[in-house]
Amino acid sequence: MTTSFPPGFLWGSATAAAQIEGAAFEDGKEASVWDTFSRVPGAVLNGDTPDVAVDHYHRMPEDVALMKRLGLQSYRFSTSWARIRPGDRDVNPAGLDFYSRLVDELLEAGVLPWLTLYHWDLPQAVEEKGGWANRDTAYRFAEYAEIVHGALGDRVANWTTFNEPFCSSLLGYASGVHAPGRQEPAAAIAAVHHQHLGHGLAVQRLRELGAQHIGITLNLTNAIPKDAGDPVDLEAARRVDALNNRIFLDPLLRGEYPDDIRTDLADLGLTFGDDALVRPGDLEIIAQPLDFLGVNHYHDDMVSGHPLEVPADPSLVPADPHAVAGGIRSVGSPFVGSEYVTFPLRGLPLTGMGWEVNPSGLTRLLVRLGEEYPTLPPLYVTENGAAYDDEVSADGAIHDELRTKYIVDHIRAVSDAIAAGADVRGYFVWSLLDNFEWGWGYGKRFGIVRVDYETLERMPKDSALAYAAQIAAASASA
Ligand code: NOJ
Repeated sequence: MTTSFPPGFLWGSATAAAQIEGAAFEDGKEASVWDTFSRVPGAVLNGDTPDVAVDHYHRMPEDVALMKRLGLQSYRFSTSWARIRPGDRDVNPAGLDFYSRLVDELLEAGVLPWLTLYHWDLPQAVEEKGGWANRDTAYRFAEYAEIVHGALGDRVANWTTFNEPFCSSLLGYASGVHAPGRQEPAAAIAAVHHQHLGHGLAVQRLRELGAQHIGITLNLTNAIPKDAGDPVDLEAARRVDALNNRIFLDPLLRGEYPDDIRTDLADLGLTFGDDALVRPGDLEIIAQPLDFLGVNHYHDDMVSGHPLEVPADPSLVPADPHAVAGGIRSVGSPFVGSEYVTFPLRGLPLTGMGWEVNPSGLTRLLVRLGEEYPTLPPLYVTENGAAYDDEVSADGAIHDELRTKYIVDHIRAVSDAIAAGADVRGYFVWSLLDNFEWGWGYGKRFGIVRVDYETLERMPKDSALAYAAQIAAASASA
């Protein structure tokens, strides 16, 4: 492919603790909100739980050896708060020890650790004290960040506070399709703000402790009005852009909630003042300078404000906001309390998640961010990839042509963005391994490495081999 990347461009792959580790109740770990939520009947497809996942907790050295074999330069993983400080009480040395061994193993293999502190698995004990709707959780998060840094800060250079706060606040507390499964819009808005605050407090704490490369990862979208001449569609696209992008980007990068969001959410508790949700000084804490912004991107969103034809059988409209039903992507209801928003499909190819494949959307997003935010730090694509129903061929291989094409085309899209002026410094494929895909359980496979859920055996798919070749070629020409 004709791509070019700056020297030092980082090639990696990503996972998350709750999705791969398993050992959900071992060595002192206690329940996270996902352990609890997955036990609610109907919450996760087929009643799957993260109990075993892909057993990475016990197979970590084998997985790191695999990364080395593929030539990964960096590995993006998350630490589990519920493993490190289970039950919101004392620190669990066995939990910290696992991550310490992981980091040692990575460094030994020449793979740069890229650590995320929060990838959605809040200790259930913290949820029971109000979870992210409770302001105190922000301070507990900063304490947890300090604990992790205390154990790993001598060897880990790259720190990400939150992964996709959109999902763990709005999907977790408003639409309820993610843990903890609450459907309380005002709590969701509180969760957004308290995660911002937790981020800012943790960044301050990490800096004091000497960390030098700190950022956050957001899932961002291009919200495209179906008919740019139709005020109803324009308004719907504005709302999606507001709640998916700007409610995160603006406090972090500009130190403010934009006026339209303040107006939209005033009745849901986005209030300002001494006893309000947003207190004096909060926004200064939140807008700490960042060293990088992680961007997760899988697809764009075409948006309409007009009700579309909804399948007669409501069970055909999946609760997951990114799911497809009868050609209509249902929004779930992170937008509870706002007007009707629909996501018509554009006739593009779809992945196994029903997400549209549109690599130029990634280019557009990466370029646009620099145009819209003058203080934008360097970008890393911290997740991009695709789920498809893989088949194991007679030769035992997995010829996942569609996933391979998806990845190759999106890497080209990143290169195009760089050529157009975006400061992108790295790319992480989601995901290294097939894993627990949240509400979809083990029903969706994103891995470039197949996991046989019976034997837990790992088998690199063709996409892994193609990605390894891309890394080798890019490194050779750098
Ligand atoms: C984003 C999330 O960070 C990750 O956990 C998830 O598996 C992928 N998207 C795919 O849905």
